[in-house]
Amino acid sequence: MRIDIITIFPGYFGTAGPDGRLAASGPLGVSLIGKAGARGDIDFRLHDLRSWAADVHHTVDDTPFGGGPGMVMKPDVWGDALDAVLGTVPDSGTVPRLVVPTPSGTPFTQQLAAAYAGESHLVFACGRYEGIDSRVVADARTRLPVDEVSIGDYVLAGGEAAVAVIIEAVCRLLPGVLGNEQSTRDDSFGGTGGAMTGLLEGPVYTRPRTWRERDVPDVLLSGNHRAIARWQRDEALRRTAVNRPDLIRRLAAAPDGLDKRDRRVLADAGFPVDAEDMAD
Ligand code: 6GU
Repeated sequence: MRIDIITIFPGYFGTAGPDGRLAASGPLGVSLIGKAGARGDIDFRLHDLRSWAADVHHTVDDTPFGGGPGMVMKPDVWGDALDAVLGTVPDSGTVPRLVVPTPSGTPFTQQLAAAYAGESHLVFACGRYEGIDSRVVADARTRLPVDEVSIGDYVLAGGEAAVAVIIEAVCRLLPGVLGNEQSTRDDSFGGTGGAMTGLLEGPVYTRPRTWRERDVPDVLLSGNHRAIARWQRDEALRRTAVNRPDLIRRLAAAPDGLDKRDRRVLADAGFPVDAEDMAD
């Protein structure tokens, strides 16, 4: 997979060679993603937006039309940057997908992470200040798919931290990045559609069996795989009901989201999902 990042703070991600190739440092240079980059499985390219600024001060922003606080990133600079970066695309017949992080975008979800993991080329355009002149996305949309995405309901000073988050969520889904392909199957939010789809992950334990007088639940030592799977689902249901009741409501409304036993577990935990469960 190829990943291009355009930013006024390339140093946030690491240092770039003359061709933009990322030298391993920063959040993309460490851990499993760092190794995938070193292997060449992910080809990261960093681009300094200011190199497309036309004036001696390398200006990338200007005051907003209509007034208001803050500054808006200039369309001409972003247009030239995107033309240049998209122009360096190896002509493999695949169209890159442009991702523009913004708090006013659509939510970035595990589902979107899985869709991005299936792309061969992602280009991230990091905005700062009050955002990028809206014509830049409109113009880019005439040439390639563009997603404006938000990583949550809070405001960051710029897109860089959001891009680090998105890249980590996407790259751990690439084949060979996590040692064990199984480890994404039971991810919170359902990973790739296993038995835990739509639920948060339950608690996990390792040795020792007793620690500070707290025992690992017996069922996990029982060797009874059916009982273990059922217990893990029950725990996931209870945790999801407490921490993310919205996810339980979504599952309850889905055709095969919650079976009778799930509804019983939730009702017993004090989270009845329908009138029938509330009655008894
Ligand atoms: Cl993607 N960007 C910024 N600047 N703030 C955010 C965000 C993105 N997602 C949540 N807040």
